[in-house]
Amino acid sequence: MTEPFQPGRDFAVALDRADPLVRFRDEFHVPRRENGEDEIYFAGNSLGLLPRRTQKYVDEELEKWSRLAVKAHFSGENPWMPYHEFLAEPMARLVGASPTEVVTMNSLTVNLHLMMMSFYRPTRERHRILLEDHAFPSDDYAVESQALVHGFDPGEALVRLEPSEGKHSIDTADVARVLEREGDSIALVLLPGVQYYTGQAFEIEAITKLAHAKGCVVGVDLAHAAGNLVLRLHDWNVDFAVWCTYKYLNSGPGSVGGCFVHERHASQRDRPRLAGWWGHDKKSRFRMEPGFRPIPGAEGWQLSNPPILSLAAIRASLAVFTEAGGMEPLREKSFRLTAYLEWLLQRELGEAIEILTPADPHQRGCQLSLRVKSRSSGRTVFEKLEASGVTGDWREPDVIRVAPVPLYNRYEEAHRFVEILRRSL
Ligand SMILES: Cc1ncc(COP(=O)(O)O)c(C=O)c1O
Repeated sequence: MTEPFQPGRDFAVALDRADPLVRFRDEFHVPRRENGEDEIYFAGNSLGLLPRRTQKYVDEELEKWSRLAVKAHFSGENPWMPYHEFLAEPMARLVGASPTEVVTMNSLTVNLHLMMMSFYRPTRERHRILLEDHAFPSDDYAVESQALVHGFDPGEALVRLEPSEGKHSIDTADVARVLEREGDSIALVLLPGVQYYTGQAFEIEAITKLAHAKGCVVGVDLAHAAGNLVLRLHDWNVDFAVWCTYKYLNSGPGSVGGCFVHERHASQRDRPRLAGWWGHDKKSRFRMEPGFRPIPGAEGWQLSNPPILSLAAIRASLAVFTEAGGMEPLREKSFRLTAYLEWLLQRELGEAIEILTPADPHQRGCQLSLRVKSRSSGRTVFEKLEASGVTGDWREPDVIRVAPVPLYNRYEEAHRFVEILRRSL
């Protein structure tokens, strides 16, 4: 994105004034420093901020619990029995799916295992799993353990995609080359929507096409993409996807995760799955009879009755996204906000800071991953940033991640951040 940005603070303030989403910051609790000023909170890629309305949504459920107790499953406003269904439509909109293709359940890694139980069906000839080198460790452990469960040696079964020489990100052409060479032995391609370390957004649609052409199943980890990118999971034809709701979806630490199963798998009875009563046909669930009959669609992968207090927080957060007009306007702001931050960093600190995240705005979300090139150690710089009221995060071995989130961050904060970073170097 080539924009005529200007370096002064006034320009940042003018961008904020012209921002149609600026009022949404007041929907959130922004942590304060000891001096009473708001922190510059650039850690929404780790834990999103608390929406002010969440308390009301959670209090309503506590109140129903106190007043109705078990009867709240079936009576009162928003009964608990179908409570997860109230989330299906707004969640589906955020990830580009139909409501029957998504369900809010468990947490990310649990959902990844459940999906792999159904969609990683290895044979001797085709049992390998393609993932990116330095994938988030939980994904790495999950695929290793799945290979082991099926009797394969993870050292041989995992194919790790590396960026080409001298690059930080993995081009779709790199993926195509590996698929061309080894695709016939690959059962599952598991890639991130946005890579947690570099901030690279993968071209999921193109990769899915390539992988399907080779007969591979495609799963996507959207931990850093849900609520960050415009996603079209249904149209992109991915087989399954999993995500968490505590990052860009602002639903609280450890909150319940999301799961997508493409419509074409909705009623496949020959695909094995780990089953539980919440995935059983709703009409006959309470007959308590043996013989599992899955609900068609993503709901059929549920195991347990879900934690309502967490779902209430997700409902509150999804309502904020809906009011903001969904992902398109947020992404539009995000393009500009991250481009502005990148422009300032290059202009003011280009000698001292390397940006690992792709420069093409379509190949990244809001996060920039920074590496300190100067003599100061990255870790020391990070600690100085924290002491000056900036919350980003540090990822070993040497990266400072900063994520200006379009729902609640401002251009003026990006400007102030670069000033503070200059002083910290
Ligand atoms: C990319 C990615 N995958 C998986 C996880 C693990 O998520 P959970 O602890 O909800 O299983 C995370 C957590 O931050 C993540 O960033």
